[in-house]
This record gives sequence, structure tokens and C-alpha cells, in this order.
Amino acid sequence: MADQFTASARAYSNIALIKYWGKRDESLNLPAVGSLSLTLSDLYSDTRVRFDPDLTEDLIALDDEAATAAPGKFSRFLDLVRQQSGMAHRAHIHSHNNFPTAAGLASSASGFAALALAATRAAGLELSPRELSILARQGSGSAARSIFGGLVLMHRGEREDGQDAYAEPICPSNAWPLHMTIGVVDTRRKRTGSTQGMRDSAASAPFYTSWVESSAADLEAGRQAVKARDFTRLGELAEHSCLKMHGLMLATRPGLIYWQGPTVAAMHAIRALRAQGTEAYFTIDAGPQIKVLHQPADQQAVADCLRAVDGIREIRATDAGPDAHPLP
Ligand code: PMV
Repeated sequence: MADQFTASARAYSNIALIKYWGKRDESLNLPAVGSLSLTLSDLYSDTRVRFDPDLTEDLIALDDEAATAAPGKFSRFLDLVRQQSGMAHRAHIHSHNNFPTAAGLASSASGFAALALAATRAAGLELSPRELSILARQGSGSAARSIFGGLVLMHRGEREDGQDAYAEPICPSNAWPLHMTIGVVDTRRKRTGSTQGMRDSAASAPFYTSWVESSAADLEAGRQAVKARDFTRLGELAEHSCLKMHGLMLATRPGLIYWQGPTVAAMHAIRALRAQGTEAYFTIDAGPQIKVLHQPADQQAVADCLRAVDGIREIRATDAGPDAHPLP
């Protein structure tokens, strides 16, 4: 019965078009603002969890590294699964990303979503997608969105217990063919992680309150653009939300400068491409990578445009991805 406490799952990364930055409660990882994202088919995490009665601590092995004691955020996450299932064993986590970890390509989103699905199944739980989203959120805010494919809306929620802070799918991947092309600038781990950055922004950015207050309108506009399948509108909103978030980051003390030179050069290149008639819109997260939203027919034009930017080291093109799912 060695397999009894073992399960594997794959979850796909997602990139927010309407951004999340700031927490209304840090312990439950409740977002201060809702968000809207696109799940990506070509960037994913595969995670296997094995609960083992002989282990005295949780272990984790990332990619091809040797297993080490799992950092607190993973053990605390597994504690939630142990509480829900009543099963007390420590676990061995083995996780592989098919893309660089912690460099602004949303590895925490796909990683914690895959962990939520694998760990609950290994512990004998069958959670609904919404329950999985609520669980994944406690590992990483953006992970709540990676439970679902296509375009996904994350609710900020109002409740203190976080039961209304979950994501839901608003447009499946096959209902609107959207593409994203990523220009990789630097794959080293970022210096300031999102939790610390969000804490600093809330404490010191002078327009943090207006960021939070204006977010519901941005989210509603995004939802309407998706409903109407209005690509131009969605793209404009995405670029605005990205720049607004980075404005907030820049105005934080100490200032959070996630962009590098090639990131800025690529923003200008995409705007120039758009001025020539190719509809493409950029977004950037807590790292230097640039992600460009576009329609399938413009794949080549966008890739060529990014490739021509000095300092873009790699291009990854992807379309919309599916729901997180178990692996055999
Ligand atoms: O879920 P976290 O803690 O990795 O935060 C994600 C924050 C951004 O990627 C910058 C924006 C977002 O909505 O994904």
C-alpha cells in the first residue's frame, strides 16, 4: 500500500491582466484587491506528494535538487491539509517547474496550485475546485487562480475567514483564443518577494489607498471586456493595471524597481508595434520579464518584435491553459 498516501498533479502558471498587489490579511493571505488572469498552457508545475509515517519533518525537492527540510511556508501549507484530513504524517514534496522559479513567471501560482491538488488527494480528500482555490490561496494569492484554466477572476472577498476569497473561471481557454508571448530578461531569483513588497507598499506608498479603492472598477471593466470578447478593451485595461501597479511599487519605500533596461525597451517596442497596427499589450509582474497579450494571428509579429530588443534572452509563446489536474 505504498501508493496509498501518494498523489501527483499538474497546475499551469497564470499571469494577471488586472493585477493583485496588497493583502487585507496576511495570515490567511486575503487579497486587498480582486484580480483577473490568463492561465498559460506552456508553463506548468508538476508536483508529487507522499505522506510518510516514518518522516519526522516535511521534505521538499525542487527540480533536480536534493531533498531538504521544507521551508516554513510549505510546512504551514501542509498543516492546513493535515488539519482538514485528520491525517498527521509528514510529507515528501517533489516539484518540477518547466520554467525558471521565482523570477516573475508566476512559479508560486502554479506551484501552490499543484501542491494543493496533489497534497489533498494524497491525504484522501476530494475538494471542490472552489475549496481548492481557497486552499491554494493560502500558499500564494495568485495560486488561487491557477486551479482554473482560461480567463479567471479572483474575488477579494469581504469575510474575515476568507471563505469568499476564491477564484472562478469566467471564460474557458477554448472560448476565446488568446495568446501570451513572454520575453525573458533575467531568470535570477528576485530580491524582494511579493509578500514583503506588498507589506512595504501598504505601509509607505502614498497612493496605496487609491490603488485599493479604484481596483473594483478596473476588475468590473475587465469582466465586461471578457464578456464582450473585446480584445482591445481588455488589452488597454491590462496595460493600465500593470503600469498602475508598478507606479505603486515605485512609490513604495524602499522603491520596488522590478524592471530592468530591456524590460523598458520592450515596453516601448510593443507600443511602437501597436502604433503600426498590431494589437499587442504588455504586462509585467514582480520581476523583469515582459509578457505580451495578443491574438493568435500576431504570434510571429510579437515574437519578432521582442527578439529585436537587446537583452531579451529567450522568448516563450503560449496560449491559454487548462484547469489544474491530477497526474497518473
Ligand atoms: O501570489 P503572489 O504572492 O506571488 O503575488 C502575485 C503578485 C503579482 O504577480 C505581481 C500580480 C498578480 O496578480 O499576479
